[in-house]
Amino acid sequence: MLTIRPMTPADVGQAEEVAAAAFSGLRQAQHLPSEERTDESIARSRARMTHLVGTDPGGSWVAVDGDQVLGVALALTRGGVWVLSLLVVSPSYQDRGTGRRLLERALAYGDPAGPGIILASPDPRALHRYVSAGFSLHPSVTAWGTPRRRPRPAPGIVTVGPDGLAAALDEIDTIDTKVRGASRRPDMEANLSVPGARMLLDPGRGYALVRRGLVLTVAALDEEAAGRLVATALAEAPEGEPAELGWITGTQQWAVRAAAEAGLELRVRGAVMVRGWARPPDAYLPSGAFG
Ligand SMILES: CC(C)(COP(=O)(O)OP(=O)(O)OC[C@H]1O[C@@H](n2cnc3c(N)ncnc32)[C@H](O)[C@@H]1OP(=O)(O)O)[C@@H](O)C(=O)NCCC(=O)NCCS
Repeated sequence: MLTIRPMTPADVGQAEEVAAAAFSGLRQAQHLPSEERTDESIARSRARMTHLVGTDPGGSWVAVDGDQVLGVALALTRGGVWVLSLLVVSPSYQDRGTGRRLLERALAYGDPAGPGIILASPDPRALHRYVSAGFSLHPSVTAWGTPRRRPRPAPGIVTVGPDGLAAALDEIDTIDTKVRGASRRPDMEANLSVPGARMLLDPGRGYALVRRGLVLTVAALDEEAAGRLVATALAEAPEGEPAELGWITGTQQWAVRAAAEAGLELRVRGAVMVRGWARPPDAYLPSGAFG
């Protein structure tokens, strides 16, 4: 019989497999090219889960039949902002109400009247679930590809290395609190420990977390600073590797322009779902994993 119980670190291995199978099934159903599963991507996914089970045990749930994990929900709360990091059900168990039960547990973690954000896949069942839970839907695009025209790095943007990290984390806390209502320090620290990750800082104005050509999140006090950070990230993306900039809604025209100027492909994909906010904050691209 299927039951929902708190997730523990011992579930992480199976949970990663469920997530990989669920997203692979979705890509197949939507005729999207499959994504390569590598030792590195498995390790990253497991690290993200282990991190959240540690920081937010109350938001971490699995659906199990005996000792078999069949579904996972991971939610986090930071300073009153609730974020759904992951909701997946094993393909052969989908469409039987398991996602609903997992989401109910994840939603019960945190203040149901407080702000919340979900970076939703294009799965119609996911979109239906989140709208039914009271979130408003903002369709999003992902900008992807090898830059056809490389922008110039913006002057005054600094790359933060290990030496400057402590001071930079104080600064990004201040920026995050102003932009999105709460800092996400433990998550930024965890992200920065991933090989290849670095932080671009526009002092006093904003920051972007990047890993190779992938822009993981941007938060800035104004749109010009956000655009400068994205241009710099794209300028510095490794030659011959795809760059990616995700979760861009109609609110972030500055990001659409930056992506178009660099000649990236704009692909409509998924939605940013918010609660307690009229719309996603302007000079902000959320992190898919941590809001
Ligand atoms: C999204 C997912 C977690 C939902 O879990 P699930 O167990 O399949 O979902 P449930 O059975 O609880 O709910 C599905 C709901 O979608 C509805 N639904 C099914 N197909 C639908 C469709 N094509 N269009 C609209 N609604 C649909 C069902 O009627 C049900 O709603 P109801 O409870 O109001 O009747 C799961 O399908 C999954 O793992 N998908 C792939 C990974 C993914 O995209 N995860 C979301 C990341 S944000």
